[in-house]
Amino acid sequence: MTTKPALKNVLVTGGAGYIGSHVIYVLQKTRRYKVISIDNYHNSLPAALARVSQLSKDELPENATALERESTEIDSISCDLTKPEQVRAVFEKYGKGGIWGVVHIAAYKAVGESTEVPLTYYANNVSASISLLQIMNEFDCRRIVYSSSATVYGTPPTIPIPETTRLQADSPYGKTKVMVETVIDDLCQSDSKWRGISLRYFNPAGAHPSGFIGEDPRGRPGNLLPLLAQMAVGRVKDPVLKVFGNDYPTPDGTCVRDYLHVLDLASGHCLALDALEEGSSIFSGKTEAFYKAYNLGKGKGMSVLQIVEAMRKATGFDYKYEIIGRRRGDVPDLTADPALAEKELGFKAPQDLETMCRDLWNWQSKNPLGYGGQ
Ligand code: WQD
Repeated sequence: MTTKPALKNVLVTGGAGYIGSHVIYVLQKTRRYKVISIDNYHNSLPAALARVSQLSKDELPENATALERESTEIDSISCDLTKPEQVRAVFEKYGKGGIWGVVHIAAYKAVGESTEVPLTYYANNVSASISLLQIMNEFDCRRIVYSSSATVYGTPPTIPIPETTRLQADSPYGKTKVMVETVIDDLCQSDSKWRGISLRYFNPAGAHPSGFIGEDPRGRPGNLLPLLAQMAVGRVKDPVLKVFGNDYPTPDGTCVRDYLHVLDLASGHCLALDALEEGSSIFSGKTEAFYKAYNLGKGKGMSVLQIVEAMRKATGFDYKYEIIGRRRGDVPDLTADPALAEKELGFKAPQDLETMCRDLWNWQSKNPLGYGGQ
């Protein structure tokens, strides 16, 4: 009987967050990875990780092997990435070469907020990432999947946006993403032992169809979809949605974004991690500079008003809205050209907006207070 290879230890930063929790769920489904999660719980709750692990356990077959059961456990560690000694302690726990790769998701991510407190964003998103990379190198861990963002493109010259588009972020948040992409690229150029992939997220939405895990930001949601969900469930009491501008050069004047299901986005991380294996086809013919960046989007843009209509259908809630001024940092249209990720990673984002809104509402209506209400 062939024995299955041991699980690969993978560190997920920001593991308790909306994206992190869904990425961990997908990694566990492969039953090839053992996940270590580090999070400072700035915008998340540890309860999310317990739920992810429970979801994975519930999906185990009766005759699951010990290794498959092991793959549903999460080593969940409270850790602040801006404190190198805390990060080093995690790597020391697993020893040199003990962690196979890192999925680096932890970051502050509010475009508008980043214009108000740029130094906080540079410290948390850039300095902490450099420190993480230094510690990874010290412990012979040289594979990284980095959570980047469509905001690296600023206001792109063409729509849909290919990865070859110049990087010209116009918010401190987007600039932190460009900076860390550049650091990882230069690191991979300098040392062929390194392999890195940056994933440029467009707009993730929805939740696991069970409604057991989902998006639960601390405080009032800054993003459109979780805000609409919390309005429908009565957690946000605003009687009216404020729409930030309808004077953009778009079909109905409101901003257009490329929304993709969070589980499709999470699958993209798994494909990227797999692509960091030695001899991976995406780096075939290369003997050095093993670095690439990919868009993760559907390639389909939807306006703010179209999103409101889709959520009206999913929730039955009668949203009222008023048009107010533009929000700082917003750009008219961020719609991906996903062809490169589809071709080289085998990435797909098949789930449509109706499914995203249905899964989001299923999570929110079952968990009106998110994880805090359990
Ligand atoms: C979407 C649209 C708003 C709230 C997100 C993430 C960011 C990055 C990019 C990953 C915009 C409008 C919103 C409201 C509104 N993702 N809106 N009224 O700005 O695309 O950014 O995706 O890196 O981290 O935050 O998403 O949901 O904030 O806004 O009119 O009350 O909805 O102006 O046009 P955004 P969003």
